[in-house]
Amino acid sequence: MNDKKQLSTELKVNFPRQREQLLNILHYVQDKHGYISKDSMLDISNHIKMPVSEIYGTVTSYSEFKIKNPPSKQLKICTGITCINQGNQSLIENIKSRHSINGNLFKNGSINNISIDELDCGFICGVSPMIQINQTMHGRIEINGLKQLLPELFENEQ
Ligand code: FES
Repeated sequence: MNDKKQLSTELKVNFPRQREQLLNILHYVQDKHGYISKDSMLDISNHIKMPVSEIYGTVTSYSEFKIKNPPSKQLKICTGITCINQGNQSLIENIKSRHSINGNLFKNGSINNISIDELDCGFICGVSPMIQINQTMHGRIEINGLKQLLPELFENEQ
């Protein structure tokens, strides 16, 4: 059974065909897939007989619902003063230069399916510079350490 047919079947089994079920269904799809795709919205529309535009409007007005597949990994780079002084600024510049990014690295979106965000202070300043990959913090990280931890970030390295 393909994903599209599977969601239609799951909706039939788990949710009455009522407009009032919209938020319950959206939470179900978000939890199961990590986002609510266009195909999912079409299935939901068919199930509860609500226009896709209305479903889209609801999805985009709640911050907990995502319309894009989330990156598979999340990199946070500490931009606290200690980490910047200890080498994270050169880490940031290195990544920007490898991927030809001129502006703010943290406003660039994801790179190779890795989201990159800044972290104010990870509160492990004694082992700065630090980064966080998903839920794990890593201290005393420089570019070679980052390459070992996240080789996919450097895949299109020239
Ligand atoms: S400044 Fe980076 S951990 Fe505190």
